[in-house]
Amino acid sequence: MNSDASTPARGLFIVFEGGDGAGKSTQVRLTRQLLERNGGEVLSTREPGGTEISEKLRSLVLEHGHGTIDERTEALMYAAARAAHVQQVIAPNLRAGRHVLCDRFVDSSLAYQGVGRNLGVEKVAAINEFATDGLRPDLTILLDISAAEGRLRRLTHTGGVDDSDRLEAEPDDFHERIRHAFLELAKAAPQRYLVLDATASAEQLQDLIRERLEELL
Ligand code: TYD
Repeated sequence: MNSDASTPARGLFIVFEGGDGAGKSTQVRLTRQLLERNGGEVLSTREPGGTEISEKLRSLVLEHGHGTIDERTEALMYAAARAAHVQQVIAPNLRAGRHVLCDRFVDSSLAYQGVGRNLGVEKVAAINEFATDGLRPDLTILLDISAAEGRLRRLTHTGGVDDSDRLEAEPDDFHERIRHAFLELAKAAPQRYLVLDATASAEQLQDLIRERLEELL
């Protein structure tokens, strides 16, 4: 709690999750504008990435051409990128009273590495608990999309050119498992999630996000 008037209230930590092509970055941008219109200071960021070392890890883990990256190494690379991001960017900004909007966070590792790569949600949760020092989002907005729809949208986005990264290049059934993993996570803690059908228009999605944020602010 905010006992000292000179200490700003901690900002809200809001995470956007969902399959590739769900429209997360559009909603991050619109939500940022919404919070700023409300007078808040906002930092928007993404994972993997957000710090110099995290961006380097992002390139290593996502680009093709770095040789074999086995599942455990992949999970640890995402967790290492996240540790730097939390310590260097997310936590200090929340403490300074800024709202932090993050495109993907721990749930992406639970879904992609825990379920998609079959490492097990609990094991992946354990390394992420260490990486984040237990930091959890105040709200996670899950943009739910089918694997087929997500793939179509990515192709439309790139004018039909397939520029899939290592994860996107996985087949539809991998992405369908990821989708269900996200939905299960949301079902287990409904008060911390807002699950939206990503096929709705950007405006409709933003209206629903605004309603939920008004309750939180
Ligand atoms: P992202 O930059 O969000 O891709 P896109 O903009 O296409 O949605 O994420 C890159 C990829 O990394 C995406 O396929 C999901 C994957 N990923 C994981 O597998 N584990 C993680 O912990 C994170 C953060 C991302």
